[in-house]
Amino acid sequence: MKTSVALIGFMGAGKTAVGQVLAQRLGKKLIELDAVIEKKAGKPIREIFRDEGEIAFRELEIEATKKIAGEKNAVIACGGGIVLNQINVDRLKKEGVVVYLKASPKVILQRTAADAGERPLLSVGDRASEIERLLKFREPFYRRAADITVDTSNLDTDAVAEKIMKKLKAYAGFH
Ligand code: S3P
Repeated sequence: MKTSVALIGFMGAGKTAVGQVLAQRLGKKLIELDAVIEKKAGKPIREIFRDEGEIAFRELEIEATKKIAGEKNAVIACGGGIVLNQINVDRLKKEGVVVYLKASPKVILQRTAADAGERPLLSVGDRASEIERLLKFREPFYRRAADITVDTSNLDTDAVAEKIMKKLKAYAGFH
């Protein structure tokens, strides 16, 4: 029986915001993987990328996932690139149902407009093209990892949480 949920999806899909609502409604604890990584590294994600590069960040991400994935009764909000290393997905699936929050490139562009500077991968000249490119590459990874998929493009946070709750209820093997 799985008691945890792992939220995956592209930057701006709403993993953290939905995670907060979902954790509260399910009575489970919220764990933000990026925050775990920042604590371990002693600096913000932006600075890890700047000082050490993406590969080093991915190593920290693997380490943090290994540490967290065994947690029971948790809602784990993952970073957008978690699916790039299959080992992370395998570990998350041991205790958790993997929920993919899907969003269209247009919606992602809007939702990441305010804090693109906080997201090293989107701190580029042509954010729209970069989102399209990364999303196209990653979509098969998200799809393959997902036990449950919710399209968040036209829904607010509460509505997304509601949809996930319904799907979790119908999902055998979760409580
Ligand atoms: C990343 C997403 C970020 C963060 C890092 C890399 C990615 O998390 O982990 O900047 O590769 O998509 P959010 O999805 O919470 O923005």
